[in-house]
Amino acid sequence: MQITYDPKEKLFHLYNHQISYVIGILKNGHLGDFYFGKTLTGPLCQAQFRMDQNRGLTNYIETGDFSFSLNLERLVYPCFGTTDYRPPAIDLKDSRGSRVIDFKYDSHTLYAGKKLKNGLPSMRPSKDRAMTLEIICTDAVSQATLKLFFTLFKEEAAIVKSSMLINGGASSIEINRLMSTSMDLIDHDWQWCHLYGDWIKERHVDTFPLHHGTQSIGSLRGASSSAHNPFVMLKRPSTTECAGEALGVALVYSGNFLIEGYVDSDGRTRLMAGIHPQNFAWCLEENQVFESPEALIVYSDAGTGQMSRTFHDVIRTHLIHEKWQNKNRPVLINNWEATYFDFDADKLIALAKASKKLGIELFVLDDGWFGERNDDTCGLGDWFVNTKKIPSGLGKLSEQIHAEGLQFGLWIEPEMINRGTQLYREHPDWLIGDPNRNYSHGRNQYILDFSREEVVDGIFQQLIKVLDDAQVDYIKWDMNRNMTEPFSTALPANRQGELAHRYILGVYALYEKLTDRYPNILFESCSAGGGRFDLGMLYYAPQAWTSDNTDAVERLKIQYGTSMLYPLSSMGSHVSDVPNHQVKRNTSLKMRGDVAYFGTFGYELDVLKMSDTDCEQVIQQIDFFKKYRTLIHSGDFYRLLSPYSNQTAWMVMDKEKSKGLVAWYQVLARSNASYDVLKLQGLQEQALYRITGFDTPVSGAYLMQFGLMIRPSFNGITTTSDATGDYQSRIWEIERFTKETS
Ligand code: DGJ
Repeated sequence: MQITYDPKEKLFHLYNHQISYVIGILKNGHLGDFYFGKTLTGPLCQAQFRMDQNRGLTNYIETGDFSFSLNLERLVYPCFGTTDYRPPAIDLKDSRGSRVIDFKYDSHTLYAGKKLKNGLPSMRPSKDRAMTLEIICTDAVSQATLKLFFTLFKEEAAIVKSSMLINGGASSIEINRLMSTSMDLIDHDWQWCHLYGDWIKERHVDTFPLHHGTQSIGSLRGASSSAHNPFVMLKRPSTTECAGEALGVALVYSGNFLIEGYVDSDGRTRLMAGIHPQNFAWCLEENQVFESPEALIVYSDAGTGQMSRTFHDVIRTHLIHEKWQNKNRPVLINNWEATYFDFDADKLIALAKASKKLGIELFVLDDGWFGERNDDTCGLGDWFVNTKKIPSGLGKLSEQIHAEGLQFGLWIEPEMINRGTQLYREHPDWLIGDPNRNYSHGRNQYILDFSREEVVDGIFQQLIKVLDDAQVDYIKWDMNRNMTEPFSTALPANRQGELAHRYILGVYALYEKLTDRYPNILFESCSAGGGRFDLGMLYYAPQAWTSDNTDAVERLKIQYGTSMLYPLSSMGSHVSDVPNHQVKRNTSLKMRGDVAYFGTFGYELDVLKMSDTDCEQVIQQIDFFKKYRTLIHSGDFYRLLSPYSNQTAWMVMDKEKSKGLVAWYQVLARSNASYDVLKLQGLQEQALYRITGFDTPVSGAYLMQFGLMIRPSFNGITTTSDATGDYQSRIWEIERFTKETS
């Protein structure tokens, strides 16, 4: 890992054994975005990356010079108002109302490691695993300073980028756009791939070729949302899971965001990501600082699978808190689908006792334990135990659950309020909304104004009373509606555009306070399922509830899409009852387990109603998961077959390529079908492996080049097929028998 600066060529080169990022200081002082990709070697100079151009209908900067226009350059952090007409990375309004801005290189510093962001989640590599280049640019007229941060990792093909604005002038500046990253790529022969969705159908994959003009995804919901995940991948049209170039950008942010691609008439691509500029206006007073969230950018020249594995590695080692990085996540039972709001302490204890017998490790008490919460019309904001349901309180209940040999987990939804609560009676003005307008609701609830410190603190004070009293090992932090009528009665007119960002800063502040005070509590983020599954949340909560949809078939697409960047150790995945509560489908207990293994694993059903045979099967499933938990959570994940067809397959191999699991799923039976052949990945060619179904070891080469033969579904003649009927699944265990000989 090296970051070099060649003062003669005015060239920065950030490189490790996998990637290079080359930045040049252009002749007008702007920063040229020269190269991001596979490691470059040999001497580098500006002339290798750019050319003077004299083109028609172009505006040039220097009088008499027809060779240099920003519109023809590839830029690191483009500004608005001089000669570049493409979308800018930064949009400011100075006190005179001018939006023209012209940041030029001033100086730079280099240091080991990386600084954390102030109040924002950020990547946190150790000092010896990363290096940072900080480039300082100034705008002479506004006297603002722009700092650009570039962190290179030692091992991974990834960089982190962010920006910071400092107002050094004597009057305020309005920031309307300050993107975390902007990249100008030399061509547009890319496909844009993003994860879109909705409640119970999160993170489905959509792919289309880049076109001239703008293409974008984003959120204006106050949360990153299930509509679009804050992630975009560009891949070459010929790129597959195993080969070809791919470039992924993900934001370490949970609020309103925009990821925008712009292809100009010359076919160059500008890819930007950051806070959504719509309804964003930040008033930066003299000497104040504003920091953008970070963007994590990954490059792969070995397909989309490799890109995902790099994301997984970077997230697991440099984002997730070190406390949870290598800690086994407990197999949990959640009472939500077993009881909904209808429970009491006896029922909970009975569920816990039965769960313990099955091998479950953590009992999670979901929604309904507090205030007057008997349905979803009431209770949010009153974070004290409902003694009608739990007469002896949470302290006692958690003690009883622990006495059964289980950890105890609790659901909260701290950002929300219902009217009719004690909190609402005391603080009717704590809601986000405009008193001159209607307050729209979602699930009968309203959002607390977390841009206000006293609101965050009020909720914190309530929560610590509960958490100090009970023995809580896990918290599921839910968020079940998005923001409407974004208006804060506490902000002045010129700061209303700050609300959405201040809100998410308030959410982060509460996470910070709670994780500081209770470092041993494992947090799982949730937003009506996977409505806020992002890198910002994973900084505090190492796992997230992937989706309320626990149907095994639907989960194939959801988990497949989620795996594009999020590691399996972050994906909450549970076995639930049938008919499934979301789509009413009946799938086998086997298939539900086979899908849920590839995540944090748990159950969400009434174990007291299960048959003895099902209990026996659940015991086996939990044993199996425990045997492979470390492998699943720390290994390399390979997507083998896409769920956008009748069959899905994936596998996990440990880093040594010695042990793994292969899973195959089929949605519908096919009549009179031939056998299928599933090619594996990630093995050592020359090594021999023992694999389920083979009496003798077979080579990695055979399994990857020829593949595993899978017997067809019932075809009317044979009854000995491995998979019969609809909704089938199979798992193979694979273990290296002899090492590869070179
Ligand atoms: C939405 C979550 O996604 C569910 O798992 C459950 O916790 C409910 N909220 C409770 O209201």
